[in-house]
Amino acid sequence: MCGIVGYVGHRPALDVVLAGLRRLEYRGYDSAGVALPHSGGLAVERKAGALVNLEQRLDEIGRDTFTGTAGIGHTRWATHGPPTDRNAHPHRSGPADAGKTAVVHNGIIENYLPLRAELEALDIWAESDTDTEIAAHLVALAYAGRAADPSTKGDLPASVRSVALRLEGAFTLVVTHADEPDTIVAARRSSPLVLGLGEGETFLASDVAAFIEFTRNAVELGQDQVVTITRDGYDVTDFRGEPVAVSPFEVTWDLAAAEKGGHDYFMLKEIEEQPTAIADTLRGHLVDGRIVLDEQRLTDQDLRDVDKVFVVACGTAYHSGLLAKYAIEHWTRLPVEIEVASEFRYRDPVLDRSTLVVAISQSGETADTLEALRHAKDQKARVLAICNTNGAQIPRESDAVIYTHAGPEIGVAATKTFTAQVAANYLVGLALAQARGTKYPDEVVREFHELEAAPKAVETVLESLGEARALGQLLADSKAVLFLGRHVGYPVALEGALKLKELAYMHAEAFAAGELKHGPIALIEPGLPVIVVMPSPKGRAVLHSKLLSNIQEIKARGARTVVLAEAGDETVKPFADHLFELPPISTLLQPLVATVPLQVIAAEIARARGYDVDKPRNLAKSVTVE
Ligand code: F6R
Repeated sequence: MCGIVGYVGHRPALDVVLAGLRRLEYRGYDSAGVALPHSGGLAVERKAGALVNLEQRLDEIGRDTFTGTAGIGHTRWATHGPPTDRNAHPHRSGPADAGKTAVVHNGIIENYLPLRAELEALDIWAESDTDTEIAAHLVALAYAGRAADPSTKGDLPASVRSVALRLEGAFTLVVTHADEPDTIVAARRSSPLVLGLGEGETFLASDVAAFIEFTRNAVELGQDQVVTITRDGYDVTDFRGEPVAVSPFEVTWDLAAAEKGGHDYFMLKEIEEQPTAIADTLRGHLVDGRIVLDEQRLTDQDLRDVDKVFVVACGTAYHSGLLAKYAIEHWTRLPVEIEVASEFRYRDPVLDRSTLVVAISQSGETADTLEALRHAKDQKARVLAICNTNGAQIPRESDAVIYTHAGPEIGVAATKTFTAQVAANYLVGLALAQARGTKYPDEVVREFHELEAAPKAVETVLESLGEARALGQLLADSKAVLFLGRHVGYPVALEGALKLKELAYMHAEAFAAGELKHGPIALIEPGLPVIVVMPSPKGRAVLHSKLLSNIQEIKARGARTVVLAEAGDETVKPFADHLFELPPISTLLQPLVATVPLQVIAAEIARARGYDVDKPRNLAKSVTVE
């Protein structure tokens, strides 16, 4: 989820691009770079770290070559390759056209490995570890007339279209070429791109925040479209070159709201980004019918040798780990233990080289999880990390990695990284099932495709967020809230309670509903809100009927019941004071849809109580002390 800016106009492009990148820094901040046409060539500079590092570097080298009125820029959130100067965007072509083409990219190009091999066969070698760089080389070849279809020679939009047609995955690609200093061309598939239309100037960006200080007239690019901008306007086609009609709109948000996608808080924006976060996390992990991990230093034989799995994590990541246990045990028949990382190493867990430890961490820097990982490695266990931050310590010290491509999470409370972690956990389960043969290859593919359909179901939930907000308002004055669930609904209940505690500073407890009679039912008093996560009546009929009894027990004692149930589940209606309907989905995937309204309810209660949803008191995004 990187930030992208492009500009052609009458102002100094470097200033416009840097100002835009500053507004987009929340989208990525592990490196930044710019490229401007200059004297028949390109002036390019890029630097690892925050944008300020790039600005300092430009001051050091002097900005004399960065004086044009067109240019592109990028802030990166690493996907392929660690966050270094070398991997920072823009990426440029090589000897094919003397480095005259530069590209910035947001997204993931899934087929970059075969494309890179194709380039290598032409003696064109990538300088970086990124998937992006191949796009620069391919555009350069097309523009030079050296691609299979030579008709793109000297035609930048046609060159970009021909390359876009060859790319699989999600991408916004923005291209500048030294021979076309007054033109920028961009292509979009499953990744955002907006145009800003000014007087004698045109902007391109990942979102409107980058340019609304200059213009409020915008155009949202559609799926599989290519746009060519000049200072006089723009031209949009599909990937085949057919003209496409677009409708300009006026941006009414102020700058602060624009950065947050029109919301008051980043967290609310991040809740809405969950379908993309899940889809991006899954992207590229099924290759030729097989599950592949991101960085794998483990062989299939290593995975076959595993006889026990430990999952270690903290907080929200731990809750996602609880779900890993359900999936991995079910799919692989391997025993799985899950433990909060801060407890793990202090109780002498039994580990050896046949143990696989799955360490889950959004930041990749959490001290408890890192120390648990090191303890596991000392005992010769293998470690697989699930992490949202490329190049962080936890993935660096692990034997294999799956990245959750959720992009940076600004809200301190984890939301999109939770659902992305759940998706990644399931990938681990499928990778193990595949290596160990506990599922047939076609079953693995089927499970993967089912997982791929989950973002659509999450979108359905997002359409009813108004109801979740209204529920939050209704519960805002409560003293405490209890959460109940069974099976995969239990970790969802735990996560719902954690969100409420950390955001709304409200007493919240989650219980496995079966435990109710063993003590917690004493807490029920008239009017106490209890949020219940119901399983599907079809998917888990036994659990459904048990939970139905639990609701009746608490209702009989005066609890105010808020029930999350599958749409069409009539049986719960008589016992639900408030009902939130979830789209039908398979058992293991239900947490992906059920967690979303709980995140919203917690945020809404916090808002109603006047708290800062993005920065809850006493909490830090990354906890680097034990
Ligand atoms: C809760 C939350 C925390 C983190 C926990 C682990 O909303 O964000 O509970 O989940 O501190 O952090 P990471 O995943 O960075 O290891």
